[in-house]
Amino acid sequence: MSYAASYQQALTQPNLFWQQQANRLPWFKAPTKMVDTSQTATGRWFTDGVMNTCYMALDHHVANGRGDQVAIYYDSPVTNTQSSLTYSQLLRQVCLFASALRDQGVKKGDRVVIYMPMVMEASIAMLACARLGAVHSVVFGGFAAAELAVRIDDAQPTAIISASCGIEVAKVIAYKPLLDEALDLAQHKVKSVVVLQRPQLEADLQAGRDHDWLSLMAQAQIRNDVVEAVSVLATDPLYILYTSGTTGKPKGIVRDNGGHAVVLNYTMKAIYNMDAGDVFWAASDVGWVVGHAYIVYGPLIAGCTSILYEGKPVMTPDAGAFWRVIEEYKVKAIFSAPTAFRAIKKEDPQGELLKKYDLSSLETVFMAGERLDPPTYDWAVETIGRPVVDHWWQTETGWSICANPVGLDDLPAKPGSSTVPIAGYDLHVLSDAGEPVEANVKGNIALKLPLPPGCLVGIWGDEGRLHDSYLKEFPGYYTSGDGGYLDDDGYVFIMGRTDDVINIAGHRLSTGEMEEVVGAHELVAECAVVGVQDPLKGQLPMALVLLKAGVQIDDPQLGKELAAMLRKTIGPIAVLKSAHIVPRLPKTRSGKILRKIIRNIANGEDYVVPSTIDDPASLDEIKVLVSSQ
Ligand code: COA
Ligand code: AMP
Repeated sequence: MSYAASYQQALTQPNLFWQQQANRLPWFKAPTKMVDTSQTATGRWFTDGVMNTCYMALDHHVANGRGDQVAIYYDSPVTNTQSSLTYSQLLRQVCLFASALRDQGVKKGDRVVIYMPMVMEASIAMLACARLGAVHSVVFGGFAAAELAVRIDDAQPTAIISASCGIEVAKVIAYKPLLDEALDLAQHKVKSVVVLQRPQLEADLQAGRDHDWLSLMAQAQIRNDVVEAVSVLATDPLYILYTSGTTGKPKGIVRDNGGHAVVLNYTMKAIYNMDAGDVFWAASDVGWVVGHAYIVYGPLIAGCTSILYEGKPVMTPDAGAFWRVIEEYKVKAIFSAPTAFRAIKKEDPQGELLKKYDLSSLETVFMAGERLDPPTYDWAVETIGRPVVDHWWQTETGWSICANPVGLDDLPAKPGSSTVPIAGYDLHVLSDAGEPVEANVKGNIALKLPLPPGCLVGIWGDEGRLHDSYLKEFPGYYTSGDGGYLDDDGYVFIMGRTDDVINIAGHRLSTGEMEEVVGAHELVAECAVVGVQDPLKGQLPMALVLLKAGVQIDDPQLGKELAAMLRKTIGPIAVLKSAHIVPRLPKTRSGKILRKIIRNIANGEDYVVPSTIDDPASLDEIKVLVSSQ
């Protein structure tokens, strides 16, 4: 079916459209009910379907002749290791680890936190949870102990799975002390911790609580018990993935099993043009939604071969790293963040390293995670010589809202646009008053309810937050938090967040949370943190600080201290651009800091001075400060 026909059918006959997609999967009991909006306006899909995501991803393929095909290649330039697991071997490893987890008391519905670097065991752990019907919550390795502790307290896991260390280029990052600190900070007491000991740095294990991954696997092998894939309802949760919102408390996005499997299978073909047996590489991290969907579940459900890459686009060992992997594994499509390509462009602007490799297998380059700026788009098209697809995503949706669906039709690309809404998304651009705006006019991007399968079904442990965060602002719509416009051809241009979320090198973080950290500095009376554009990382946070009366410190010293605090509390990915001491912060007469205007000034964008501003001169001070940068 063409893009236009499928989009139209999903819009006018959603139940028929998604039933056809659902029928392509091996259910234990195929669903007869499609969307149900009686409980929630966002909709629940396939409510009577019974299944298991791990079964769909592994057992089904082994039973249907795909057992000897490589399921996942592990490529780790930072440890000089390469390995692979076929579908049969991966299934065996997953069953053993599921047995180990079961032995640790993990059962259907229990939560399991996974805090691991990019190792094969991370995907084994995720799939083992899915097999047991347990709910995994993967926490990105670049988050600090305090962030991990917040997630542990929220998810209340029965077990945590981690590793002794991660490797960042040449640095060995000890994970276990971070985990121990998080467990000390957390109120929730975890019964069982499983640690993968890596040879680069072994961790001390706490007797009684901590277990060695390999020992548990060996015991499971001796027990040799059968671990069948547990039947779950399509609407049972598969995972919780925490993401940054406007406040300090991250949101635990809940994804269910059925909708997730159906849309990933659909998108593997419709968007990425991948068939079973093809090699797909999402150069991301399993700690992000892209890693969940397209390193682990999507490629496996679709019978493809995936790559789990523990390295960077540059420095491991050079800016030819991506091209080497593409040649070596005959990658058909690569998916990464624009920042990764900007890093390559910086090191190798002419693409000299690329010329050393055979990229003949590569058909398409996909990018997401942040705005793909036209210069990076143009460079990638010219240098790689393949179609580059910008597609727009959110952790909340779990799959891309807009893309060029190259598996259906190769629509003409427009730089700066993530092309068109994918089947299932009824996208509108609304004014702040909630009225539809005309083509080419910027507004709030909103999705008409109900949402298609695979999107968030709730915020873990906080029933009201889904409504308050996403559904309240524009009744009948999901508010994306992104601003942008539709052009005359219906192409979507995403221009950036309308709230306090920023994207640093493809890592989504909250400036609200950063303000809490900055505000905790002993000399700081008040502050505002805003995202400013950065040519490499996309955005970086800048702090404007009002000091307490009578104290003294200069900008560079304050910046250094605040950067250290952000690193310690949020993690090394929260890289501060600069801090500036200001005599006052622009506010409304009722005392609200005008963050949006500060952001506009810092990024050289137009703005309208609100009539409610307390002191317009405060804006001039910020202008002077920014122009002196
Ligand atoms: N564990 C521990 N530390 C980590 C980490 C992890 N998983 N990931 C990043 N860090 C650390 C880095 O080592 C670095 O530490 P340093 O300040 O001591 O050097 C710091 O966090 C900042 O990292 P980052 O912002 O990622 O910069 P970088 O120079 O290490 O790498 C890129 C730059 C562009 C290569 C990298 O950010 C990247 O690949 N981004 C894409 C992200 C992505 O895939 N997003 C998902 C959307 S598709
Ligand atoms: P995350 O939840 O980490 O995937 O981040 C989602 C946010 O990243 C979105 O709300 C956007 O602000 C931004 N984003 C993701 N993909 C794109 C894209 N292709 N173009 C513009 N912004 C994007």
